Amino acid sequence: MSVGAGPTQAEGQSFFDAIGGHETFEAIVRRFYEGVKDDDILAPMYPEHDMDGAVWRLTAFLEQYWGGPTTYSEQRGHPRLRMRHQPFHVNPEARDRWLLHMRAAVSEANLAPLHSATLLDYLERAAHSMVNTFEETPRG
Ligand code: HEM
Repeated sequence: MSVGAGPTQAEGQSFFDAIGGHETFEAIVRRFYEGVKDDDILAPMYPEHDMDGAVWRLTAFLEQYWGGPTTYSEQRGHPRLRMRHQPFHVNPEARDRWLLHMRAAVSEANLAPLHSATLLDYLERAAHSMVNTFEETPRG
């Protein structure tokens, strides 16, 4: 599976529109970063002074993936997410923390059950594909 290219929409409403567009995606991502901020494994990986930038990047990526505006690629180029995660220590522990905060964020968005399941299924597969090391989290 490519995590960068979203499902093609044959006709009708995109998933982006169906769940409430930009407002919904941004709310999920902001809630996700609330969890990240207090997480001892994840917080040190993220740019402390550019959390708004991080919110923008993840929101824009997810919006594009689900059929919303293509602003992410216009500004950041091809997602190449595995490559962009190489600098970070993404082991199964980090993946599980990432998913923990993402599940909480999606749950608080109160989406229809099928939408919620669709989104979480994708995020889980994407998170598994992002693991790039099985070495323990460096702690110092
Ligand atoms: C599995 C655990 C994961 C960890 C520990 C992790 C960690 C990170 C970190 C530390 C950053 C840099 C923050 C920034 O400055 O933007 C980042 C960026 C990003 N992550 Fe993840 N990530 C994970 C999974 C995912 C998944 C599953 C997705 C997609 C569904 C994703 C999408 C992104 C995007 C779009 C960016 C910004 C890329 C850019 O344009 O530079 N990440 N991630």
